[in-house]
Amino acid sequence: MKNKKFYSLNGLIAFCVMLGGFFVLSTRAEDGYRLWLRYDRLSESSAKVYRAQIKFLVIKKSSETFAVRSELETALNGLLSEQLPVSETLVKNGALIVGTPKNSPFIGSLKLDKELAELGSEGFIIRSFKFKNLSAIVIASNGETGALYGAFHFLRRLQTGESIKNLKIAEKPKIKLRVLNHWDNPDGSIERGYAGKSLWNWAELPEKVDSRLRDYARADASVGINGVVLNNVNASAEMLTPEYLRKTAAIADVFRAYGIKVYLSARFSAPIELGGLKTADPFDEQVRVWWKRKADEIYKIIPDFGGFLVKANSEGQPGPRTYNRTHVDGANMLADALAAHNGVVIWRAFVYDMKPGYDRAGAAFENLQPFDGKFAANVLLQVKNGPIDFQPREPFHPLFGAMPKTQLMPELQITQEYLGFSNHLVFLAPMWREVFEADTHARGKNSTVARVADGTLFGQNLTGIAGVANTGTDRNWTGHDFSQANWYAFGRLAWNHEISSAQIADEWIKMTFTREPKAVVIIKKMLLESHEAAVDYMVPLGLHHQMWGGHHYGPAPWWNTYERDDWNPTYYNKADANGIGFDRTATGSNTVGQYFSPVRDEYSNLKTVPEKYLLWFHHVPWDYRLKSGTLWDEMALHYQRGVEWVRQTRKNWENLKGVIDAERHRAIAKKLAIQERDAVWWKDASLSYFQTFSRRPLPPGVEKPQRTLDEYKKIDLLDDFARGIGSFDENHQ
Ligand code: GCU
Repeated sequence: MKNKKFYSLNGLIAFCVMLGGFFVLSTRAEDGYRLWLRYDRLSESSAKVYRAQIKFLVIKKSSETFAVRSELETALNGLLSEQLPVSETLVKNGALIVGTPKNSPFIGSLKLDKELAELGSEGFIIRSFKFKNLSAIVIASNGETGALYGAFHFLRRLQTGESIKNLKIAEKPKIKLRVLNHWDNPDGSIERGYAGKSLWNWAELPEKVDSRLRDYARADASVGINGVVLNNVNASAEMLTPEYLRKTAAIADVFRAYGIKVYLSARFSAPIELGGLKTADPFDEQVRVWWKRKADEIYKIIPDFGGFLVKANSEGQPGPRTYNRTHVDGANMLADALAAHNGVVIWRAFVYDMKPGYDRAGAAFENLQPFDGKFAANVLLQVKNGPIDFQPREPFHPLFGAMPKTQLMPELQITQEYLGFSNHLVFLAPMWREVFEADTHARGKNSTVARVADGTLFGQNLTGIAGVANTGTDRNWTGHDFSQANWYAFGRLAWNHEISSAQIADEWIKMTFTREPKAVVIIKKMLLESHEAAVDYMVPLGLHHQMWGGHHYGPAPWWNTYERDDWNPTYYNKADANGIGFDRTATGSNTVGQYFSPVRDEYSNLKTVPEKYLLWFHHVPWDYRLKSGTLWDEMALHYQRGVEWVRQTRKNWENLKGVIDAERHRAIAKKLAIQERDAVWWKDASLSYFQTFSRRPLPPGVEKPQRTLDEYKKIDLLDDFARGIGSFDENHQ
């Protein structure tokens, strides 16, 4: 009896421990790791409909088809909660046939050659077919990567609840190189990274390759990303040593199955640092030979290496101008070394000199536009979306449209350097779409940035787009669970810049969080409005670069102590007793003249400039009348509106308690609390400072600042960072 009791007590404890373990496991399972590739079982009614159409998989079992086969098996087994048989023959209705004409006899027999050839090795078709009265769905491409992309596309339909009847889908990417730029350093730190350490564990590589890299590659491939620059543009030459190249090769081996090529940022002075040469002059024969040999060495161990990304003569980086050579001389020398291997050089246009009294917004254009038509065929010029530096909002970069004989490649920033790090919810698709849709008028109407990027405007052959990555070792990859949406959106827009922000948001929410219709509506609204709200509480009406120096977090419009004028917020706001804003018209720096007409006329004229760019192009009197009041009142109301948006969003999120899993709900709620604190801080600090010039009262409806200007000036951010505000671990508890 005693024993029995003892055992049952033990049993109970064991049961509780098990339960506890299960509970821990099941809550940890909602840590965001699975991103949008969750594959949890669908509702029984949806699964039933799909199961009736997908009864078995027909796919070749080989190492080449491994990625697509394992993805489909895992996903379908999860979503449909049924182990799908894999077969190489058609035995009954309901086959899902996947492959290329080469590896699938069925696909080979369909006579799709012409169609598939037009779609290239990354494009695919998904089509409902009948084979001798047996119905089937075919996912076909000319390439293994295209078949994988097709599979992800098909799975997305299931994840988002779309029909898979009578399918007739054909897709191909609009841009060839869809590349993530990781600003990761060999020591594991990430420049402007807010989600932990680098995913590349250099110390362990190449012997040990983290299994996480495969999940990273799956996520990239699921949105069509086909290139990854592994290291920071502020590059260390060490990355080109034999030791690091072996590590890089190990990463490339994992990525290959997912259609991803690796690239490296190359330090221009590497021939000096690694080769012991006296110079890195691109006209020096020994230097040219050094780079050629380096390229040969790389391609020997990474035959599909993508190429080099180069930041030269910018922010202290070495470059050809050190030797009185031009950007073209430098880029073409490297291009020459890579050409024999089909590698490319991605040369960055982010150059601006320290010249007293100049306008930084005009620098890249001045430095590079004169070289149009001079770059080698395997060079792309990577141009940031706006002329300054990834600000919360910028007009499009005037180089777009202005270099018709050069292969321009837009660079977007996914990591939120100027947008609240991984603390603020800011969905970037609407901002990027604003850039894509901007009309440069380079060849008359409809000369959009998108058409420059996808090559259709100037008949450009090699096209590309880059996004500065926001991933790290945080369990949920991006720190803020919602920042995953920006990684997703970058890939989707790189594939097809015409997809609407609403569609991207809709897909991502349904795959990542929930398909519950009311929740989808609420979350979509949060995402779609978030960018405008952040602009409102940080830098309304065309203000820019008002952040603290160095780390770029929080407001510091008073900051004027940097030796370099163009790193000081006061340089950009030019607030004085008369008004505020940077005059870039003919009465000022006249960099508006870098745009084509009629864009330049529209932006030059105070009456026609879009309000969102007002203070970007004009110095405007405080009492200037805008649509709904004076500039001062309007500015104050924008700040207030941003704050109110965050407050309302917190409430909306609170209402989703119980609909969203508890772990992510809690983590996001904490982030939103920080965002509200910061939005108020931005409003209060900015208005308090600008009020010292405007000398006007806050309009009705705008709350009084919580602290004095002096107090805002003294805020010690290091304290906050030391406490790890917003870190993943703190929030996911
Ligand atoms: C910004 C950023 C730097 C980065 C640079 C670049 O200035 O603050 O960290 O190196 O852009 O894009 O090269």
